[in-house]
Amino acid sequence: MSLILGLHLGHDAGVTLLRDGVPVICLAEERLIRQKMYYGFPFLSLEAVMHASRISPDEVDILALDTLELPRIIGPEEMQRRFIRGNTRDVAHTVNKARHLLNYFLGKRGIDDVADKEAEARQILYKNLKHLGFSDDRIRIYDHHRCHAASAFWLSPFPKAMFVTSDGRGDGLSATLGFAEGPRLDRYLSISDSDSIGQFYAAITFYLGFRPNRHEGKITGLAAHGDPKRFGELFLRNVKWNKDGSYQFRIPEEFRLHSQNDLDSFFKRVPMTLKDRVVIHTQNDLNTLMYASNWYSLLAYLESIAPPEEREDLAAGAQYLAEMVCAEFISRNLPANQTPVVLAGGVFSNVRVNQKVRELPGITNVYVQPAMGDDGLSLGSALLAYADCDAEAERQLCQDLRPTCVGHTYLGLEYDEKEIVSACADESVQPVRLEDMPKQVGKWIYEGWVVGFFHGRMEFGPRALGHRSILVRPIDAKVNQELNKRFNRTEFMPFAPSMLAETAGDYLINYQPDQIAAEYMTMTYHIVEERRKEIEAVVHVDGTARPQVVFEQKQPAYHRVISEYYKLSGIPVIINTSFNMHEEPIVCSPRDAIRSMKINCVDVLVMENYALWPDGIQRS
Ligand SMILES: [Fe+2]
Repeated sequence: MSLILGLHLGHDAGVTLLRDGVPVICLAEERLIRQKMYYGFPFLSLEAVMHASRISPDEVDILALDTLELPRIIGPEEMQRRFIRGNTRDVAHTVNKARHLLNYFLGKRGIDDVADKEAEARQILYKNLKHLGFSDDRIRIYDHHRCHAASAFWLSPFPKAMFVTSDGRGDGLSATLGFAEGPRLDRYLSISDSDSIGQFYAAITFYLGFRPNRHEGKITGLAAHGDPKRFGELFLRNVKWNKDGSYQFRIPEEFRLHSQNDLDSFFKRVPMTLKDRVVIHTQNDLNTLMYASNWYSLLAYLESIAPPEEREDLAAGAQYLAEMVCAEFISRNLPANQTPVVLAGGVFSNVRVNQKVRELPGITNVYVQPAMGDDGLSLGSALLAYADCDAEAERQLCQDLRPTCVGHTYLGLEYDEKEIVSACADESVQPVRLEDMPKQVGKWIYEGWVVGFFHGRMEFGPRALGHRSILVRPIDAKVNQELNKRFNRTEFMPFAPSMLAETAGDYLINYQPDQIAAEYMTMTYHIVEERRKEIEAVVHVDGTARPQVVFEQKQPAYHRVISEYYKLSGIPVIINTSFNMHEEPIVCSPRDAIRSMKINCVDVLVMENYALWPDGIQRS
């Protein structure tokens, strides 16, 4: 038996445990520490994984990490800081902690030219891991984009596929493309991080007043309200295609910085925010520095195009660029034979980009790894370590139905009824046992209740898929406004639908039951015109929705909830939005769910077969 632990300690930190190549448990630290997109070492996830699987560090055969350049990028001081419990919080905290750096850097030359401290940072990394029980000889580190590709391919149902990764950056790259079969992942093309479409999308997110690397989904939602071609064609002029099928994305020279001298003069003339200055000045490596400085180039470029007030058209333009570049990158490199495609990396959290990929001729099917962002890297590094293992692992990975194809994403923690009842007692709330839970939940949804639904193992990845969800009827578009106000959220895309697999084809244009991406809310579909009115709360202004198609054999309880609503309403679709308040991570434990209920997140909370009400008064 082999036990491999994958561990990611950047933003979206997390841990994966593989037993004989099969993911046993995958956790994102944010859910446990209750800080969205947690940035640091995943202490709590590591402990939870060890506890849930009843293993100790000395039983782990390999500890797999991602991102080869990490020690070089963050240096010894930051590396050490990551291993101090409770000291490493989110990015904003890091920036605050680094405030003192400004005193040193403000008014000084732009670049901190201290010697490369990579080796020292690497030593600190190994020393701390050893302290946690993982000796040097069992540690492996893998390339960032290779980890994304591994997570997509070896979790997909396809025995061979084209893989494409795309994000802001990782190990000097922003995108890769290649072909995978059995235990092999062969990269054919890679795109430099100076040509990053992901970074451009993040820059637009920042330019329009949102938080980059977090609020990109809002830009996708806004885009449907704008004219894609007005700025999209302009943005697209910056893309040059090479003969080998790769591309360059270069904004006009006047905005580009190429050298240290450029940076020095740029710093003199461009005002910088506190955060930007800290980010730039804590980088020692020129390539990373150029990437960081590219933020300014992109923002200066955007400023020359239009003011941020024209946000709908700017968002639509960025969306147009992302869709066109991803689609062209794939279609230029498609093999003669039809092929499935697997996708991972933050760019593929973009549901409209993924629809565009699905619609390309020559592609038979698309799988988007549900934890497509850096939260999925712990899974990817663990899978790569397994593929490197030995002949037995290779044989397993070559089988048609690979052991890693788990067919779902419910890989997080679960809580039994005893733990639920105990959490209720701790929170001084009285649970009521339901005779027929799915029937009762279906009825409450039909009656217009906002139901908190807590069931089984937590999802791995950013989407709630009926295990940590809020369920509502989809018949009135006004509910989007009401609920966003209630949850204190700002969204430009309507809520997503969960729908019965048996009738999904009646609502989704060109849907086929084997389209696995439709099971994870990772892709939009156009909704059949005549059906839009009936489920208007989940249909965007462009006529699309991002569905979760629910199969009875995969999710019997959740399927029954939707079926019960269907029996009463004649509509086999409900709203499924993530169970969390604004800017909070999705709830993980019964206690998190109860606390959300108490601050008016839901009208009723259903945890397994128990129901609770915010005012403690039982209703049926
Ligand atoms: Fe990434």
